[in-house]
Amino acid sequence: MTPWISRLATAAMVMVATNNGIADAAYSIASTQDIKNTAADIAWDLLQYYKGNLTGQTPGILPGPPPAGDYYWWEAGAMWGTLIDYWKLTGDSSYNDLITQGMLWQVGPGKDYMPPNVTASLGNDDQGFWGMSAMLAAENNFPDPPEDKPQWLALAQAVFHTQASPDRHDDTCNGGLRWQIPWSNNGYNYKNSIANGCFFNLGARLARYTNNATYAEWAEKTWTWMRGVGLMDDKYNIYDGGHVEHNCTDINHAQFSYNNGVFLLGAAHMYNYTNGSDVWRSRLESLVDATLDIFFPNDTAYEVACEEHMSCTTDMLSFKGYVHRWMASATQVAPFIAPKVLPVLKNSAEAAVATCTGEANGRTCGFKWSQRVYDGSKGAGQQMNVLGAVSSLLIDQVKPPVTNMTGGTSKGDPNAGSNSDDFRDKYSPPTTGDKAGAGILTIVVLVSVIGTFGWMSTGV
Ligand SMILES: *[C@@H]1O[C@H](CO)[C@@H](O)[C@H](O)[C@H]1NC(C)=O
Ligand SMILES: *[C@@H]1O[C@H](CO)[C@@H](O)[C@H](O)[C@H]1NC(C)=O
Ligand SMILES: *[C@@H]1O[C@H](CO)[C@@H](O)[C@H](O)[C@H]1NC(C)=O
Ligand SMILES: *[C@@H]1O[C@H](CO)[C@@H](O)[C@H](O)[C@H]1NC(C)=O
Ligand SMILES: *[C@@H]1O[C@H](CO)[C@@H](O)[C@H](O)[C@H]1NC(C)=O
Ligand SMILES: *[C@@H]1O[C@H](CO)[C@@H](O)[C@H](O)[C@H]1NC(C)=O
Ligand SMILES: *[C@@H]1O[C@H](CO)[C@@H](O)[C@H](O)[C@H]1NC(C)=O
Ligand SMILES: *[C@@H]1O[C@H](CO)[C@@H](O)[C@H](O)[C@H]1NC(C)=O
Repeated sequence: MTPWISRLATAAMVMVATNNGIADAAYSIASTQDIKNTAADIAWDLLQYYKGNLTGQTPGILPGPPPAGDYYWWEAGAMWGTLIDYWKLTGDSSYNDLITQGMLWQVGPGKDYMPPNVTASLGNDDQGFWGMSAMLAAENNFPDPPEDKPQWLALAQAVFHTQASPDRHDDTCNGGLRWQIPWSNNGYNYKNSIANGCFFNLGARLARYTNNATYAEWAEKTWTWMRGVGLMDDKYNIYDGGHVEHNCTDINHAQFSYNNGVFLLGAAHMYNYTNGSDVWRSRLESLVDATLDIFFPNDTAYEVACEEHMSCTTDMLSFKGYVHRWMASATQVAPFIAPKVLPVLKNSAEAAVATCTGEANGRTCGFKWSQRVYDGSKGAGQQMNVLGAVSSLLIDQVKPPVTNMTGGTSKGDPNAGSNSDDFRDKYSPPTTGDKAGAGILTIVVLVSVIGTFGWMSTGV
């Protein structure tokens, strides 16, 4: 077909679709080229949610945080990681400048992903998601920023080092990181799996990348803590978290797929770093089995804690994509899991694209993948999920993540993160009046959280 005829045909198809109110067939992912074309459309639709490069808007973030817009700060950090993987997997560099601009704008004064604008909801997990995207950039030789700007590896190290600092570790619950960073934040008294999971994941990846044992020791210690405190049980179920005033014995048993994903990819890196040790092989294998069992019924990604009744928060509506990307990436550093993992991811991706027939453009992606039809749900998370699932189908066609010894070009900094804000100087301890006020705020927030999500934790 000539381009002219092809365009006419497309226009006719669109008209038919509009007239019937029924969309065309869903996307194809039958060939490498189909996968690339499909991923390109989904990436484009995802970026329609991003306004950060428009005049007067803040680079790097999605509209938010609530109530200013739907998205918390961390989710944009996760989006840049999704787009770095998109570039790596498809070779499409259209968004690379946008990624670099956004990721550099948000580094904050300590160059450690703690920008003052987001202090009021700054968790170790929020910071961790940006750090993991910087790590991904280093591992894939994503174009290095100009020399006078912070470098990807140094940014990942800064996030890790601030989290390894003694300020962030105490003896409650026998160790571990708290959810929130500033002590005045609601949720400072909660120690949870995702905060510790991001720290573990970064430690394992920095260990493999730099071959520096200090990072691996922290990763090992975090894994041991998770098992000891019961946030990961002996069947490899990973639970949400517990409160320090109960020594973390009041475990919230909600299970979210991103917790499994973040530990799974970290465990794969530890397996690789230890040259295939039996200990990490067995941990990884068990975690893969548990993850497929809990979160992939009928070989399709399913957010078990909230999907059935669609009680997922905006955060939770983005977890499936991370799990797909992280499991796919894990097969590159622990190839022995590939035969078990990749066929499931493929089936799940097929279900995912089958939902992309929604809204006016006939291709908006939904959330309930197992139904294989558009379910009326839309957002940046839903687009990001399907983008992660589709682009990850190309994982066996791209090079594994590099290390400092195998071609990595990103410059590190052993002192990264040492100019960080420890939140001690700026905020004097609260007076009695402030405390009473803070207590009321906590109660109001707790009531609204309980009212909205019942027993479930809000996760990130
Ligand atoms: C913002 O980025 C999008 C996606 O790359 C691009 O289409 C658009 O032209 C950019 N807008 C401006 C003002 O740079
Ligand atoms: C912080 O918020 C101000 C005001 O909205 C904005 O101009 C600035 O770019 C933001 N900084 C970051 C790092 O997002
Ligand atoms: C808190 O729990 C840890 C296990 O996570 C246990 O070793 C420690 O003794 C407990 N501390 C108290 C005060 O109960
Ligand atoms: C893995 O093997 C390499 C090459 O033999 C060695 O240099 C390295 O120390 C080993 N790593 C570990 C954690 O044992
Ligand atoms: C570690 O990862 C590399 C890819 O970078 C892979 O070739 C190697 O087989 C992995 N090691 C093990 C023990 O699986
Ligand atoms: C899995 O498939 C079975 C049989 O078709 C069905 O009953 C069940 O609801 C499916 N599970 C999910 C989570 O979709
Ligand atoms: C990475 O390798 C280079 C040489 O290729 C070396 O100069 C540098 O110190 C290494 N960095 C780390 C963190 O090991
Ligand atoms: C290993 O990493 C730790 C933490 O960043 C750092 O203090 C130490 O100097 C590093 N060791 C080497 C040999 O680079």
